Amino acid sequence: MSDGSSFYVTTPIFYVNDVPHIGHAYTEVAADVLARWHRQSGEHAWLLTGTDEHGQKILRTAIANGTTPKEWADRLVETAWKPLLETVNIANDDFIRTTDPRHEVNAAKFLQHLHDSGHIYTGEYEGYYCVGCEEYKQQGDLVDGTGEFEGQLVCAIHSKPVELLHEKNYFFRTSAFAEQLLALYESNPDFVQPESARNEVVSWVKNGLADLSISRSSFDWGIKVPWDESHVVYVWFDALLNYITAAGYGHDDEKFARLWPATHIVGKDILRFHAVIWPAMLMAAGIDVPKQVFGHGWLLVGGEKMSKSKLTGIAPSQITDTFGSDAFRYYFMRAISFGQDGSFSWEDLSARYQSELANGFGNLASRVIAMVVRYCDGVIPSPGSFEAADEAIAATSKRVTDAAGESIDRLAIHEAIATVWELVDELNGYITSQEPWGLAKDPARRLRLETVLFTAVRGLGTLAVLLSPVVPEAAAKLWTALDGTGLVGDARIDRAWEWTGGPKVAPLEALFPRIEATVG
Ligand code: MSP
Repeated sequence: MSDGSSFYVTTPIFYVNDVPHIGHAYTEVAADVLARWHRQSGEHAWLLTGTDEHGQKILRTAIANGTTPKEWADRLVETAWKPLLETVNIANDDFIRTTDPRHEVNAAKFLQHLHDSGHIYTGEYEGYYCVGCEEYKQQGDLVDGTGEFEGQLVCAIHSKPVELLHEKNYFFRTSAFAEQLLALYESNPDFVQPESARNEVVSWVKNGLADLSISRSSFDWGIKVPWDESHVVYVWFDALLNYITAAGYGHDDEKFARLWPATHIVGKDILRFHAVIWPAMLMAAGIDVPKQVFGHGWLLVGGEKMSKSKLTGIAPSQITDTFGSDAFRYYFMRAISFGQDGSFSWEDLSARYQSELANGFGNLASRVIAMVVRYCDGVIPSPGSFEAADEAIAATSKRVTDAAGESIDRLAIHEAIATVWELVDELNGYITSQEPWGLAKDPARRLRLETVLFTAVRGLGTLAVLLSPVVPEAAAKLWTALDGTGLVGDARIDRAWEWTGGPKVAPLEALFPRIEATVG
């Protein structure tokens, strides 16, 4: 991390056939935490998210709902996908829709360029297509259907029948890039992460790359192929290009040079597109490959990938209406190792809310501030000489700041939060062992009381800065109560242990109030 350098991070763009569930919100929050962290590191952080609006899946949904795909997309974007960003408090810098002219025009330009340079040819393909995935499936991706789909082959992800398609269309010579891709994975082991994802990607490419059918002619909801308007661009080829069209490709060279290449956060189900096809497309166009592709795991419900099509979807607002957006963000980032699957449960969420957020962090903040109000009239005291216990807190503040930053560099978000929590726990232990309420009873120990409260307040300031990317609302409230300088979201995270607050604290409402209602 360094001052002024660029950190461009993206989420996948979401299909607008349906409304978001917590699996989608999970991807959004992870990318947002990273963007906020890098922004607080003095970097030029840029978070892009958006919607994937072309293709058969959206077309069919629109028809089934008696409307046009564009009207359907407009409705879902405004009523569901943009509101999701508010629900989980995403500070995105841009929102791209694949129906935006800036995308359609420049995606077509990219394709024309590939065509002109000989990477596209006409061919024929027959295979099983899953409209849910918008992807041709290999035999190994299919399973026997059950229930109403008994006797049919279904997609292992969607559990819905695949369709046998035979098409004559345009192909991208992906296979020509196999060697170059393997060299990329070899020379840059961080290109695909985590390690398990990297291994999988390497073995796909080693097992042979098929060329990709990149156009469709049986329907017309898509970007027209520039040299043959009877075809539209295959939805994945179109969608991947959002990462560069939003960053200025083809229309704002200065912006593109500043932002590109990006760090892509994606679910593991769409790793092949991002770690194989996408870099091959970029190689063909002579554009730098992404900085990194990180494949996170799935949120599971009842052991299965949460999904609307299987009716296991939980709307993010079901959680945030009760627990708030901070708790949503904290819970999913803390409880699941980023890169692995994780099971969601209301019990686990409630338990962590109560023990970690309300009792661990929230209570610590309220108690310390209440003591400064009570014993020092709200004025943050100046410290006397430090004892070993105080120095230990300062040392932990510095250590966790460095270690958390190092975890974020590896995209180990869960690890960064766990590290910061060491300071929460240590501060709680410090308050218990120093007993400021006891010191307050003895006028001779006044200076000691002031040193302890100063140390605790400074620790809270460090926590506000370090936790701001994860729980921005609570961090901002705490920062305000500590009379922090400027906005906490602007405070340098790599110098979180430095105290830049005061002179007075203000009373603090409970950061994570008690939740009485039963949930689930
Ligand atoms: N439109 C494509 C992405 C194109 S990117 C150029 C797409 N959209 S999606 O809406 O189906 O999924 C978007 C993201 O949500 C994917 O990263 C997917 O992995 C993620 N998730 C969907 N269900 C999920 C869970 N149950 N758990 C975690 N993430 C999940 O794919």
